[in-house]
Amino acid sequence: RRIAVLISGRGSNMAALLEAAAAGGFPGEIVAVIANRPGAGGLARAESFGVPTRVIDHKAFADRAGFDAALDAALAEVGAELVVLAGFMRLLTPGFTEKWLGRMINIHPSLLPSFKGVHVHEQALAGGVRFSGCTVHFVTADMDAGPIIGQAVVPVIPGESPDDLAARTLKAEHRLYPAAVALVAEGKARLEGGRTIYDGDA
Ligand code: GRF
Repeated sequence: RRIAVLISGRGSNMAALLEAAAAGGFPGEIVAVIANRPGAGGLARAESFGVPTRVIDHKAFADRAGFDAALDAALAEVGAELVVLAGFMRLLTPGFTEKWLGRMINIHPSLLPSFKGVHVHEQALAGGVRFSGCTVHFVTADMDAGPIIGQAVVPVIPGESPDDLAARTLKAEHRLYPAAVALVAEGKARLEGGRTIYDGDA
């Protein structure tokens, strides 16, 4: 399966995916990394793996629909079959999410459905939870609310800072995301009737 990875920043999850793909036995090929910010640190990292990169600067577009149309065109050009959001900090229009429904996934650094959006680790610590973690899900029009594909749990250490929790959660993300992307790329987890179906499910 031809995979495009979308980033906005440093791209550590993207790098984890590139490493998994480079290690062999991975059921997909990362054919492009696309950033919506020219300064995204992950671009140089992707290039160091020899993966073609593109920037589609959202600031060059009058509205979300214009940006999404350019993104869709770029995905068609690279022949993407699966779109993987990795720290992609931009809401996508319902038309775009509908088009890619079941073929676009995201990782979020909380145990969804708790703590959607931004400042996730502040939210988790303020909520007093004993366990946080990360979630991979299919992308739908509603932010951080699509059907869940996989999760990993990270215990909260009493008194730790949001940055500490973020750093430990990120390590869990780097293990979870390649495994979850592989499941979807192989068709072992797929979206059917609004929920995730796994191979072996009745
Ligand atoms: C990750 O915590 C991801 O879950 C969240 O933003 C962060 C991106 O980090 N959506 P990176 O760019 O993958 O290093």
